Amino acid sequence: MPRRQLLLFPLPFQGHINPMFELAALLHSRSGCSGGGGGGGDGVDFSITILHTTTHPITSPMHPSYRYVSLAPVDDELSNSNCDRELPPIVEDVVLHIFHLNARFEASFRDRVAAMLEDAEEEPVACVIADAHWFAVHAAARRLGVPSVALRTGSAASFCSFMAYPLLMQKGYIPVKESELNEAVEEVPPMRVRDLPRVDQSDPVAVAELLAKVVAGVRNSSGLILNAAELMESAEVDKIRRELAHIQVFAIGPLHKFTPLAAQPNQLPPDRTCLAWLDAQPAASVLYVSFGSVASLPEKHFVETAFGLALSGRAFLWVVRPGSVRGPRGAAVETKLPEGFEETTRGRGRVVEWAPQQEVLRHRAVGAFWTHCGWNSTLEAISEGVPLICAPQFGDQMGNARYATRVWGIAAEVEGELWERGRIAAVIKAVMEGREGEEMRERARELKQKLSASVSRGGSSHAGAERLVEYLKSL
Ligand code: UDX
Repeated sequence: MPRRQLLLFPLPFQGHINPMFELAALLHSRSGCSGGGGGGGDGVDFSITILHTTTHPITSPMHPSYRYVSLAPVDDELSNSNCDRELPPIVEDVVLHIFHLNARFEASFRDRVAAMLEDAEEEPVACVIADAHWFAVHAAARRLGVPSVALRTGSAASFCSFMAYPLLMQKGYIPVKESELNEAVEEVPPMRVRDLPRVDQSDPVAVAELLAKVVAGVRNSSGLILNAAELMESAEVDKIRRELAHIQVFAIGPLHKFTPLAAQPNQLPPDRTCLAWLDAQPAASVLYVSFGSVASLPEKHFVETAFGLALSGRAFLWVVRPGSVRGPRGAAVETKLPEGFEETTRGRGRVVEWAPQQEVLRHRAVGAFWTHCGWNSTLEAISEGVPLICAPQFGDQMGNARYATRVWGIAAEVEGELWERGRIAAVIKAVMEGREGEEMRERARELKQKLSASVSRGGSSHAGAERLVEYLKSL
């Protein structure tokens, strides 16, 4: 069979780019052309083409075996849509940002792929694999007659809440009311109202519209890839399979476990000096702290975080990105460590702008992870048996924290209302050295083993990946 292209189109945010590149590495290792021989050596020959946008170009590292195709917005479409020329800043309104991306790049995706299909010199296109949030791209691929498969980079549970969103709105759970935050949502157990997907900076109606478009895009595609493991979310994966019985569903997480440390683009250069610093620390003695690639903390919380770390007396590695602190109106303010913090913590703390996170979490010196519970961070920590302190900020993060604390029993939480240095220090100590923390660590280690088995031959994610390759071959 001639070599065919898989067109992979990540949503251009770190938490979406990483799993798409991990998927690319997995597919590449299974393709005949890689010499990987991971199960698809019988003449499957796929090449990987990465689509990216001129507004968020992927510039490095350029994998030598992948082709990179850059899409520029089509002028006509820009003037016909409601888009401003400037993309709304992601920190100010992530939902609006995603709507604009879809509006801006739908036509350019369509034209570029149509040209590929007509060009006899081009390798035939087998399939488009695009992030589920590229809803307009899935629709455009369908109109071109090209099969499209959606990659949902979040948990299976979060996708279940996306599917249930219209019903949850109809029943009045959403928009969320302060007085109902702790009420159970029986349609998506064990979520409470506070755990449902929401973005405080965005209009709740726009959030609902976006989720409806994402779900509709997936329903109308040929398949759904979940970066989720059945052993962690079997009921949720079953539910998705039942509701989407007309398409293929592949639960093949954690994707990064298939090709550990596959090179992927980083929004900032990782500060690798922290690894040498970790080498000098005793086992399980360091708290790793990072709130992901997008979330910012209100100034007050940032200051309490710093002094909570100081008060805990524990060693820490803290990622403080530029733009990780926001002022009262939501806009980023200068990120400056509070006075006195560095003197108090000298010798037992490191602050970096960006860490090589997967390597940090694998390091024997890391004892716990204080995280915003982005799905990648959650999976990366669980895969290394590291217990969590959860501080969810927006989107699916509250739901991920709920599962980490309640379902998997590997986490404690610092709730927004209780974000105060004394409470923070107490939670850190409990997780790093208390009996409760030891039990969390034990459960996290068990999950690590099971996840490792699930991506190995005979495991469910491994079987799902094999099924995915077979499916792509059949197209
Ligand atoms: C966003 C949303 O906030 C989240 O809710 C959704 O699940 C995914 O997209 P993000 O903030 O990007 O998440 O967090 P996360 O999903 O954890 O992804 C961040 C990625 O960046 C991880 O793969 C992590 O390893 C990497 N990272 C982060 C680094 O490599 N270094 C850092 O210093 C911080």
